[in-house]
Amino acid sequence: MIREVITYPNKLLRTKSVDVEKFDNELHTLLDDMYDTMIVENGVGLAAIQVGIPLNVLIINLPNEEDTQEKENLIEAINPVITHKDGTQIFLEGCLSVPGFNEEVKRAQHIIVEYFNRDGEKQIMESEDFLAVAWQHEMEHLTGHLFIENLSFIKRKKFEKEWKKRIKQKS
Ligand code: CO
Repeated sequence: MIREVITYPNKLLRTKSVDVEKFDNELHTLLDDMYDTMIVENGVGLAAIQVGIPLNVLIINLPNEEDTQEKENLIEAINPVITHKDGTQIFLEGCLSVPGFNEEVKRAQHIIVEYFNRDGEKQIMESEDFLAVAWQHEMEHLTGHLFIENLSFIKRKKFEKEWKKRIKQKS
């Protein structure tokens, strides 16, 4: 089932999510709905808080070399923790909660993440480049933050100006 993606400046996006305690049907439905929602919205990642659920749950599904998004590459992460990060990279990011806006963000180049899958089994994943960006972007949502908060003062001002203009055009 497709859920509504909440967008900036909705205050719910600032919620600090909490750990999942039960790996039950409700969690599985949430994960399935998040996948359906991400696909129709043309996203490559989604955190539960973006559909209004303040749980430490995220999904990532990057396109492969042929630029297609295969479900077999879907990552479902519950209660993720970054245990190691190093290096830096600058990547052009976007977010389904800040639609139509892209900006460069600096993040770690290489990370190791520990998390649980939908069945409560512990996983460890090492990632770099775009995948490491996706992990860090989605995990930032779980702490109640958005990628635009990483922008320089000038770029943030530019964003706020563009955003106000767009809201005006819509109304
Ligand atoms: Co996002």
